[in-house]
Amino acid sequence: MRPDQQQEILRAATRLMHGGLVAFPTETVYGLGADAENPQAVEKIYQAKGRPSNHPVIVHVAPEADLSYWATDIPDEAHQLIKVFWPGPLTLILQRASHIPDTVSGGQGSVGIRCPSHPVAQALLRQFARLKPSGQGGVAAPSANKFGQVSPTLAEHVISEFPEEVAKGMPVLEGGAADIGIESTIVDLSRIRQGVGAVLLRPGHISASQIAQVLGYAPQLPDSHAPRASGTLKAHYAPRTPLILVTAQELAQGKLQNRVPAGQKWAVCVFDAGRQPEIEGIDWFSVSNEPVQYAHDLYAFLRRVDQLGYQRICIQSLPEDQRWEAVNDRLQRAAAAFP
Ligand code: TXA
Ligand code: MG
Repeated sequence: MRPDQQQEILRAATRLMHGGLVAFPTETVYGLGADAENPQAVEKIYQAKGRPSNHPVIVHVAPEADLSYWATDIPDEAHQLIKVFWPGPLTLILQRASHIPDTVSGGQGSVGIRCPSHPVAQALLRQFARLKPSGQGGVAAPSANKFGQVSPTLAEHVISEFPEEVAKGMPVLEGGAADIGIESTIVDLSRIRQGVGAVLLRPGHISASQIAQVLGYAPQLPDSHAPRASGTLKAHYAPRTPLILVTAQELAQGKLQNRVPAGQKWAVCVFDAGRQPEIEGIDWFSVSNEPVQYAHDLYAFLRRVDQLGYQRICIQSLPEDQRWEAVNDRLQRAAAAFP
């Protein structure tokens, strides 16, 4: 964090106290935050994002927060996971405390809680908690993008996406490029007492096998009774330009070139752009062949390509192994937006 940012953080925390919105960096993606205990403030997030208000948002807390202020009936599994992964890119779904507004929980009996590791996020959360009479401050925040769009990994992404809010004085705290680049892993622990074990609602940087190592069993896949999560909608995280996935085999067989209509320009992302043939209508882009770096680069890359005005983004499909699970999840959802 920059030393001169303390003033800015105090101003942002004060704005939260007054029911305003604040955009802030986290290690995953930038968030669009409001006081989690103020339903009117949370409502402003939905309005700014154009997001249906029955979708729950994550409550962000500082490392020293009292979890029992936000959740009830906290199972041992939560403490085990928190000990290993907080602060960090893991969101836990727990039974909500009764004072959590419906606008935060999407009317469900649960609440999503995350303690981010980014120093600017932590400074904001700590400052906000200090201003609150209870000493507990929670910032409800989805990713700071319009509903269904790609999450922001730079402050400038947020500024370009919310010009009206910025013009109205919404602080956008600067935190550099988000380290991880894709949204947190979400684990549902809200039904442990009913005998339903941990459920992986959204894969992320913290993998299912890391969770399994801590819990002693692998988290389940969501069933029809699992809490709803908008990031788990089939079509989500999409750039504006239609996106398709192509296999390495299709690329190697030169099948793609027949698919580009005359006069169109397609952006094609592969591991080795330098080794591709020159083809009319195709610009090659290189992406990392390593999953952590790939995740870090993905959203900024999609935004950049979006701006370049291609008719289509083609992405070389990725290996199916666990290491690529989170990135595969985002790419498949992005492609599903353009059936
Ligand atoms: O990394 C992240 O999680 C980022 C940063 C800003 O922390 N936030 C983020 O928020 O990705 P959002 O709203 O874009 O995605 C949060 C997901 C949504 O799919 C939401 O439905 C789910 O968390 N969620 C939140 N509370 C929930 C609850 N009580 N039950 C089930 N799902 C919940
Ligand atoms: Mg989002």
